[in-house]
Amino acid sequence: RKPISLPRLREMHKQAEKITMLTAYDATFAAVADAAGVECLLVGDSLGMVCQGLSSTVGVSLETMRHHTECVANGLRRANGTAWLIGDLPFGSYHESKEQALRSAVVLMQAGAHMVKLEGGGWTEETVRFLVERGIPVCAHLGLTPQTVHALGGYRVQGKTNESASLLKRQAAALQDAGASMLVLEMVPADLSAALTQELDHCPTIGIGAGNGTAGQVLVLHDMLGMNLGKMPKFVHNFMQDSGSISGAMQAYVAAVKNGSFPNNAAHAW
Ligand code: KIV
Ligand code: NA
Repeated sequence: RKPISLPRLREMHKQAEKITMLTAYDATFAAVADAAGVECLLVGDSLGMVCQGLSSTVGVSLETMRHHTECVANGLRRANGTAWLIGDLPFGSYHESKEQALRSAVVLMQAGAHMVKLEGGGWTEETVRFLVERGIPVCAHLGLTPQTVHALGGYRVQGKTNESASLLKRQAAALQDAGASMLVLEMVPADLSAALTQELDHCPTIGIGAGNGTAGQVLVLHDMLGMNLGKMPKFVHNFMQDSGSISGAMQAYVAAVKNGSFPNNAAHAW
């Protein structure tokens, strides 16, 4: 297989082939996910909850993200992996200024990321443009943005009112215009994310708890393997249940996303 690149992701989007993504935090899981055919690996700041035992992603540092990005990149290199590697910019590492965001993004890119992800709309547009102009591919993230959980009042569905839905659409379009080449949509109603996906023409949407109308899907690795320290979100499916191995669970996830059977809007969406 050829390494996944931005042109390849654009091609998949154009051909309406679903893009698959899982989180990865270490070398071995990264290599196994890559071999199972997962196209994009996200070193998510969800590692704060999954690996560090924190109750939110707010406490994750840039140094921790750098370390895990390096671990995942090492695993991909050793396994001759082809996955597209995305590093999450943690809370506080891009909020001060676009210059601070650039410095933080450089840390993750030098650790092996191919793209960085940052949360939020509006104020982030300028930052996205600044990074993209400087050769750093950016994935945006709207809907439930876990770094702002305290401002949002909990992990709840976003974009339920007409006002919040149209704000989300405007912010998504502006982020695409600013140069974002991917957009994660987390916990938004299925009809909203499907409509939004149609409105964006060169920025594939990657849904999590956002129904099956997005251009791709992402899940937290440990969630889809049935492991969670807290309450399992409704939008997760345990792919381990009907698979004999971790690799088999990942392959089942890839197959289910590709053929549109996951997520099921009745079972995993709003
Ligand atoms: O940190 C993370 O795992 C994420 C995904 C859930 C999109 O941001
Ligand atoms: Na994240």
